Amino acid sequence: MSNYHIKNFPEYFHEYRKSVRNPELFWEEIAEEHFLWRKKWDNVLSWDFTKPEVKWFEGAKLNITENCIDRHLYTNGDKTAIIFEPNDPNEEAQHITYKELHARVNQMANVLKNKGIKKGDRVCIYLPMIPELAISVLACARIGAIHSVVFAGFSSTALATRINDSDCKMVLTSDGSYRGAKTIDLKGIVDEALESCPVVESVLVVKRINSEISMKEGRDFWMQGLLDEASIECAPEIMDAEDPLFILYTSGSTGKPKGMVHTTGGYMVYTSYTFKNVFQYREGDVYWCTADIGWITGHSYIVYGPLANGATTVMFEGVPSYPDYGRFWEIVEKHKVNQFYTAPTAIRALAKEGVSHLESHDLSTLKVLGTVGEPINEEAWHWYDDNVGKKKAPIVDTWWQTETGGIMITPIPFSTPTKPTYATLPFLGIQPALMDENGKEIKGNQVDGRLCIKFPWPSMARTIWGNHQRYKDTYFSAFENMYFTGDGALRDEVGYYRITGRVDDVIIVSGHNLGTAPIEDAINEHPAVAESAIVGYPHDIKGNALYGYVTLKESGEGRDHDNLRKEINQIITDQIGPIAKLNKIQFTAGLPKTRSGKIMRRILRKIASKDTSNLGDTSTLLNPEVVQDIMDNAL
Ligand code: PRX
Repeated sequence: MSNYHIKNFPEYFHEYRKSVRNPELFWEEIAEEHFLWRKKWDNVLSWDFTKPEVKWFEGAKLNITENCIDRHLYTNGDKTAIIFEPNDPNEEAQHITYKELHARVNQMANVLKNKGIKKGDRVCIYLPMIPELAISVLACARIGAIHSVVFAGFSSTALATRINDSDCKMVLTSDGSYRGAKTIDLKGIVDEALESCPVVESVLVVKRINSEISMKEGRDFWMQGLLDEASIECAPEIMDAEDPLFILYTSGSTGKPKGMVHTTGGYMVYTSYTFKNVFQYREGDVYWCTADIGWITGHSYIVYGPLANGATTVMFEGVPSYPDYGRFWEIVEKHKVNQFYTAPTAIRALAKEGVSHLESHDLSTLKVLGTVGEPINEEAWHWYDDNVGKKKAPIVDTWWQTETGGIMITPIPFSTPTKPTYATLPFLGIQPALMDENGKEIKGNQVDGRLCIKFPWPSMARTIWGNHQRYKDTYFSAFENMYFTGDGALRDEVGYYRITGRVDDVIIVSGHNLGTAPIEDAINEHPAVAESAIVGYPHDIKGNALYGYVTLKESGEGRDHDNLRKEINQIITDQIGPIAKLNKIQFTAGLPKTRSGKIMRRILRKIASKDTSNLGDTSTLLNPEVVQDIMDNAL
């Protein structure tokens, strides 16, 4: 009998040892006892990191929505599956029971089928945080279509790139979205994107803000009309454990975004099991993750993980500051939230506003607090602990990635003693390693290095859509026989891990993963720009902010710098989205380069961080004189 709920620290160690001594047996027991399979697997795991190829539960048959919905109907059909809290506090919240969710997912699944979507087809979902987003994700999974959710803050160009990369036949969107006091014209963005997406056959539009939009005859359809005609019964498509469940794009340090492909069986087992343990979810609890379903956190820990456990999961449409900074706490009080999972950037933004926004709200239901997406600084950690959890709700600082599918390094609440800024210990079955620059593993404690994982885990991404070579090059080539995370980490004297940040050209801004190359490509499209380099620098609220160094063409010299800054940020907004805008833009005569022409970002990072005491050896540069000039004019 596997132990589904870790209850104390010795039990964690006991289970951990079991999980790494015989991972196949460990995961097999969990998979066997806690999920609904139409057919059991022939083989628990086969793997080869040199190809790389990883298969979990090969030969098994299942449908993940039967696990997330159907099997709860008999025991818990009237229980609330999703609480939808709208942007506007005056609009009523919706409580969607498992029975209703079943009917609504089936209806939407039938709509997709009627519009020609079949198993294996890709469907792009570009929706705000409304119930239809979760429902459409599940509807795709119901019929075996591969969903590709694109965060509804991405621009039309970014959306088009993602639609085309995976040849989506259909787009699900809404007329618009609410974001605090603003509305966003989502359908307009989709229309623009589709000008360059020839493969898309149909667009289904959810009515949310009742705005005037244009509908293209034969391509665009209102969702509600189609739902009204669809049956509430839809037999689940029976999938192989290794069939793709979804694609989710994440930024790379170079080139276009990477469509990470997650498969069905292992992803379900891992997200479900981690959800239960990392949040110590108990029957009757109300769980709230503030992420957007457009990111992996929302996929794994708003939709699949919670629902596979028959949990009640809150979906919030709005932002923490609207109508005021008490909004999160009002929701916690209103829905009696027990587990609350958010990003350090949100905590820092709220901490900056003091504590008055917390004081009028009853937060006594909170049992576990979580953070994810970026390192949490000590001050924010204590603010969260003191004011939100009142020192009674343990903080789980969860480290993981789009690629890992589920939480990898984390405390288990009430078991693992927490330590500010430390993600602490590996989750069961996870075998981290710290590597040095020469590819050797660094053993022992009080060391730091590049964070790798030595052994497969069930929810790891299996490939990059359409580019397996890039998957291999990015994750399995830096260190032999290891998955390389791209992060640096240190291990303290007791073996706790602290993630120190990216060691590649990915910058995490407000918890969002941004690659430098796509931003530089966007900037370089400005007719006055000759060249650019982006680096991150520490920022009180965002964690990191973006600093751009831009050199101008002759034609751009003499132009007003403030206007140029606005134009550059507008291009970035158009090409990627407002999340990638630069906080600072410095115009320079040149960029420091090595003799082979590579930009020395290390120097630029130091200047942006105002840490110029030790710039290292600059004598090998092609153009050492620009360094002083950049320093003299730094912003
Ligand atoms: O650098 C790490 C950081 O976020 C990266 C993954 O970003 P993404 O794929 O967008 O997924 C975010 C949500 C899972 C990681 O490589 N990161 C994530 N969690 C933490 C973190 N850095 C420090 N501490 C964390 N808890």
